[in-house]
Amino acid sequence: MQNDIESILISAEEIEAKVAEVGRRITEDFRDKDPIFVGVLKGCFIFMADLMRHVDINCSMDFMAVSSYSGTSSTGAVKINKDLSEDIEGRHVIIVEDILDSGVTLHYLKGYLMNRRPASITIVTLMDKPARRKSNVYADYSCFEVPDAFVVGYGLDYNEHYRNLPYIGVLKPEIYS
Ligand code: IMP
Ligand code: MG
Repeated sequence: MQNDIESILISAEEIEAKVAEVGRRITEDFRDKDPIFVGVLKGCFIFMADLMRHVDINCSMDFMAVSSYSGTSSTGAVKINKDLSEDIEGRHVIIVEDILDSGVTLHYLKGYLMNRRPASITIVTLMDKPARRKSNVYADYSCFEVPDAFVVGYGLDYNEHYRNLPYIGVLKPEIYS
């Protein structure tokens, strides 16, 4: 598995420090707001698990599963594979994403959840890849800005593999070409 990685973009130590810092900022900003964190599966699972342990306030959590990607390119279409199980009306919703790329997924998801009349919607992303943005959507909290390369690890996959790498790495181009 490690042989398929060209370079380490963000080390496990850097991720740990930054995720803790963002968790502390959210703790301050959402004190007494009892927010509901909505993780976007599957990519969010490691980030959200680590982030939540640094969020020291009353809150709840739920998950959605969406797909917009096949291989290394976005299909542009978003499909809801699993919807929320909690009611978000009047709640402060915090969407937790792995990476904001074209923005198509989050733009769609934000509109979709807005219809349920939450008190607010905030976006937290582990990574932001602004070079490829197509939709008008911004992260309120972003841990890392990354260049236009296909990255894997710490929850992110290439064809369902590499999610278990403890760091963020750039895949060797020969793996997907
Ligand atoms: P967007 O709709 O183009 O913003 O894409 C969002 C989704 O595409 C993310 O939630 C990821 O699941 C996936 N994605 C985008 N870029 C990468 C990448 O570099 N590696 C792995 N998955 C990615
Ligand atoms: Mg994703």
